[in-house]
Amino acid sequence: MKRDFLDITDLSAGEIHRLFSLAADLKKKQKKGKAHPILKGKTLAMIFQKPSTRTRISFETGMVQLGGHAIYISPDEMGLGKRETAADVARVLSRYNDGIMARVFSHDLLAELARHASIPVINGLSDWSHPCQILGDMLTILEHRGAFDGLKVAWIGDGNNVAHSWIHMAMRIPMELVLACPAGFDPDKDLVAKANDAKTSRVRIVRNPLEAAEEADVLYTDVWASMGQEKEAARRKKAFKNFQVNDRLVEKAKPNVLVMHCLPAHRGEEISESALEGPRSIVFDEAENRLHIQKAILVTLMKK
Ligand code: CP
Ligand code: NVA
Repeated sequence: MKRDFLDITDLSAGEIHRLFSLAADLKKKQKKGKAHPILKGKTLAMIFQKPSTRTRISFETGMVQLGGHAIYISPDEMGLGKRETAADVARVLSRYNDGIMARVFSHDLLAELARHASIPVINGLSDWSHPCQILGDMLTILEHRGAFDGLKVAWIGDGNNVAHSWIHMAMRIPMELVLACPAGFDPDKDLVAKANDAKTSRVRIVRNPLEAAEEADVLYTDVWASMGQEKEAARRKKAFKNFQVNDRLVEKAKPNVLVMHCLPAHRGEEISESALEGPRSIVFDEAENRLHIQKAILVTLMKK
């Protein structure tokens, strides 16, 4: 039966660890020029309702490296849910392709695609979550730390889609996850409660970024206004002005703290130039690992 990847909670902890191993193996082989065309002849339809640099290019590159092909569908082309229903698109693409990756506004649309497709559907970001990002980020943390033992992650900023995927990850891999968010911008309350009920990790919301940063192994942030929230940018700039990853926070954290950002970054807003470009920053390692972890996801879901 086909499997989708809409959220990190679609995977067990064991499956997540197996994806890390497979990604590490594919990465090593690719760098040595010893990669096999595991998905030879397979095609991935990539539907985009929003712009992208990393997601589009890493998925497309990944498919080519695996011997397959990816088809990019730009935001103004398909009119998913407008020109044509997600159910119809899902059934048509299932007749042509071996997988669908979609970046959408509404997570429900993604779920509808998955319900009606007979091929795997992968979430390339929705307003609810961004699971490929956090899988790639955890692979990057593993490469830098060697293990996840005693991991404390401090999220600074908006309780948005990327934050939700961090919470999902905390439901699978034990960690201390502290999210410093301004009042009114918390992650989904029910999700936080569910994560704490699962008892795998401790998930806390605080209002003071310095408190979150204290002794943290990872300082993570994302834009103050996500794609689709452009009209709220001015209001958000005021609300988030004290929620920046900068040298003060880096000093509060562990000496070997990893500074992370999913990118694109707005220097001087959610992250200072010095933190982003400083010696603790691993933002380009994490961007690279989108490629390797997504190849592992593609192989796992699409190889027959
Ligand atoms: N981090 C990330 O998903 O980047 P893009 O929006 O450029 O794809
Ligand atoms: N929260 C951001 C993430 C971009 C990768 C957005 O949704 O725009």
